[in-house]
Amino acid sequence: MIYDYLIVGAGIAGLYAALNIPSNKKTLILAKDPLWECNTFYAQGGIATAVDSDDVALHIEDTLKAGAGLCNREAVEILSRNSIAVIEDLLARGFEFDTDEKGNLLFTKEAAHSRARILHAGGDATGRELHRFLLQQTEATVLEGVVVIDLLIEDDIAYGVCVRQGAREFTIYAKNISIASGGIGSLYEYHTNAKMISADLQGIAAMRGLPLKDMEFTQFHPTVFVYNTRARKYLLTEALRGEGATVVDERGERFLFEYDPRGELAPRDIVSRAIYRHQKKGHKVYLNFSAFNEEFFKKRFPTIYRNFQNLGFNVPKEQVPISPAFHFIMGGIATDTWGRVEGMQNLYAIGEVACTGVHGANRLASNSLLEGLVFSKRAVEDSLINEFSYTPKEFAIEKRQLVKSEDAKFKSLLRKTMWEKVGIIRKPSELQEAKDIVTQIANKPIGYLLRLRLASALAIIEAAIARKKSVGAHYIEEEGGV
Ligand code: SIN
Repeated sequence: MIYDYLIVGAGIAGLYAALNIPSNKKTLILAKDPLWECNTFYAQGGIATAVDSDDVALHIEDTLKAGAGLCNREAVEILSRNSIAVIEDLLARGFEFDTDEKGNLLFTKEAAHSRARILHAGGDATGRELHRFLLQQTEATVLEGVVVIDLLIEDDIAYGVCVRQGAREFTIYAKNISIASGGIGSLYEYHTNAKMISADLQGIAAMRGLPLKDMEFTQFHPTVFVYNTRARKYLLTEALRGEGATVVDERGERFLFEYDPRGELAPRDIVSRAIYRHQKKGHKVYLNFSAFNEEFFKKRFPTIYRNFQNLGFNVPKEQVPISPAFHFIMGGIATDTWGRVEGMQNLYAIGEVACTGVHGANRLASNSLLEGLVFSKRAVEDSLINEFSYTPKEFAIEKRQLVKSEDAKFKSLLRKTMWEKVGIIRKPSELQEAKDIVTQIANKPIGYLLRLRLASALAIIEAAIARKKSVGAHYIEEEGGV
């Protein structure tokens, strides 16, 4: 069987793409296991949107400013101009954002936004609510527990994918393929991403010669509880600071003002670096909620309230120790502003895995869910306007061992190396050391899935080495500094 559309990934970009595909098309969505384990599900803060047509110019300005001069302006304009329409579409389909008692949408403020323009749902459960809603709406077939291990590409045409489900490997063919597999969290020791976000598709892209762009721009979220034992560390949304939470050290000092006059509301790369430096000086850092009364906190941030009460923190009375952690990659598979992978006819990349250039060197808070909506819709529109004429072609399944016995050990070394040497503050010598370590691991007898991670890591490291000057989230420090 040949599908009309194959979508790799069941986060916001994949599911919203599927919703925009006409129902007479055969559409298949592939999801790793379990279905909800994706970054969309864990997104707390919300979706940024221009509040009204008057706000479009300012939203564009804020996005460009956060991107530190490296955004693709056209992509940013598309993002903001289409924001109101995609939000209206969600509302028309019945999605419920949080509203006041009169039914007016509630907008919150996050760092580096000039005004409150973040919509949220379920208080701090925007991603979870949206994911559930989009899944309920989809009429596409969803195949779970599937790991994509290769893209079947020849010249500028993608014919399908090779997958592993349980012990079985098989091929799936489609006329249009959209990669919506998310970011790279599992490359880092500390990250906020779903645990199955393991950079596989970026790795396949690197191995298959598809263009990767802006890979050095990795964003670290400043306020994360990293002391749990799970791979995914717990995010404390920016919206907390937007609504009054403060960052303090063990003496109760709001030290961020020593680093930037905007304090808690400085862009997240600045806040992350300030916290990192302060920790390196030997301080402990906390998120403090004394600005909130308990009733408000419980209603506005119910997930955080519940999770941290369960972890033994009496929030909002008690403060929580925090650290920055890897959160989002601005770079990815290079596409045009319709989501089409550069150089390919029928292959699209949408959401975090893609690089349209919309985020430049640093993403503005809460623009990622919006990106997932706007560019996935455009990718479908493009495929419908420029209908691709597909001639079927069969591919043999390559023999390869996906996992080998020592992989776990090397994965840990990779995560530690990325965190320590390709992290918040980078040094040329450490980037080179990271490259050497990754190359040494690649020369070991390792499984194919680990090879994909290494290919993604190498793309990040090489891009970081090539960019000699600090910009946005890529911060290079002279040797001898912190
Ligand atoms: C957050 O809620 O702080 C994360 C939002 C984002 O990554 O944009």
